[in-house]
Amino acid sequence: MKTISLGVWILSMAIQAFGQRNESTLVVSAPDSTIINKNIYGHFAEHLGRCIYGGIWVGENSSIPNTRGIRNDVVAALKRIQAPVVRWPGGCFADEYHWMDGIGPREQRAKMVNTHWGGVVEDNGFGTHEFMDFCEQIDAEPYFCGNVGSGTVKEMSDWIQYLTSNDETPMAALRKKNGREKPWNVKYWAVGNETWGCGGLMSAEHYTNEMARYSYALKNYGEARLYKVASGGLPWDYEWTESIMKKWSTSDGWLQGFLSGYSLHYYAVPDWNKKGSATEFTEADWFASVSKNLEIEEIVRKHAAIMDKYDPDKRIGMIVDEWGNWFDVEQGTNPAFLYQQNTMRDAVTAALNLNIFNNHADRVRMANIAQLVNVLQALILTDGPNMILTPTYHVFDLFKVHQKARLLPTKLESRGYTLGDRSIPAVNCSASMDESGKVHISFVNTHFKETQTVACSFERFIPRTVSGRILVSSSVVAHNTFEQPNAVTPQNFSGARISDRVIQVTLPPASVVVLELEGSNR
Ligand code: AHR
Repeated sequence: MKTISLGVWILSMAIQAFGQRNESTLVVSAPDSTIINKNIYGHFAEHLGRCIYGGIWVGENSSIPNTRGIRNDVVAALKRIQAPVVRWPGGCFADEYHWMDGIGPREQRAKMVNTHWGGVVEDNGFGTHEFMDFCEQIDAEPYFCGNVGSGTVKEMSDWIQYLTSNDETPMAALRKKNGREKPWNVKYWAVGNETWGCGGLMSAEHYTNEMARYSYALKNYGEARLYKVASGGLPWDYEWTESIMKKWSTSDGWLQGFLSGYSLHYYAVPDWNKKGSATEFTEADWFASVSKNLEIEEIVRKHAAIMDKYDPDKRIGMIVDEWGNWFDVEQGTNPAFLYQQNTMRDAVTAALNLNIFNNHADRVRMANIAQLVNVLQALILTDGPNMILTPTYHVFDLFKVHQKARLLPTKLESRGYTLGDRSIPAVNCSASMDESGKVHISFVNTHFKETQTVACSFERFIPRTVSGRILVSSSVVAHNTFEQPNAVTPQNFSGARISDRVIQVTLPPASVVVLELEGSNR
């Protein structure tokens, strides 16, 4: 038997005992002035694969129940989660989209080839009016992405005039001719998409000048007040952010009223050459994916620090208008259609991102998961007349309580989740207080196989009751299918109890929990 000294033995016993008792601790502070923008729970719908066609639009003559061509089941699902905003028509597609092809009598609309996504023929059946109808049916705000890559300032400003002008303008007349008398109040406009890549292969300097030219030229009509969003660079391109923010802050006021947001895209892909299966993965794959998702925190923080330098009053919003997991497509599906399944791994990582955005809500004003239906980390999958809701959908459902709530800053001392030589926090959370004074805390246990306990105390709140909902499964690869649509759905949670003003929470492995607390302020 190996002999060890008494000192080492005592130390190792102490570490073991500490390890067994060890729990994460959370202190929830009093609310600060930050309201969590409901648009953090936003969406993205691109003309890509079966997102629009089949996913949203089936046409008026379809046997699938629809209202003016838009699927009723998808509309009902999106209303349930209070989907606040939808970005459209792309993505890369936006920079080859010419909006005039998508208006007027449908049978007369010009066709085009969708060169980015499989070279399929786009018949423009779903255009501006159909998109606005969709937004009205789900009660969400539209967020248009304008074409900078292959379009012109005139084309984008005509689109704005078409949608929002009520004066005697050529585009208002055209809109009326196409059956819409009143203008729409469209606020959100992206000035191009990924202009460093598919949106024009521009340098930061080139795009900064384009952004200034477009932003200045795109004018308000009537009551609509445009919220223009500049395209960001690659996620870690901080010089790009410097370039835009510098131009904004040093333009002697010229741009100050003309630019409101700055876009960030982040796909959590550990290895772009080996994205891996969405449904078959090991603990190492899980760990890599969760870690990659957590990296967005640092990226947001670093871009925010640059923005703070030029815009200490936080007038410019960070708009994370594409985010999510990107895995291999499902076997037998068109590789260009980006159709992937969605498991508890997607639920856990969606919740991580939403917690991070909540915690940075002083700067993050909108986020749009990629994408809404049938593409990438989708909330909804459809197959002909059938529709299923993914684990990611259920996270959006659980988290909707944070929309428009007051952020409660948190101090979390999390246990580590270590695999090999890397360690990440095992627990992640955010908290808010809604208008009625209810507190919601959303927790994620990132650990593949270990339960976590959290002792949660409050600086200015005395909890009296606690209830909750949990999304978890006996298997991390669990997912909903058309045969088993309810394999992963939220359940009531009984793992939290109040003891002397402290809430003890037990989080099963790989789970997402949202607690609701009632109580009083102290
Ligand atoms: O969401 C898929 C694509 O990813 C988008 O079209 C593009 O903006 C991004 O690179």
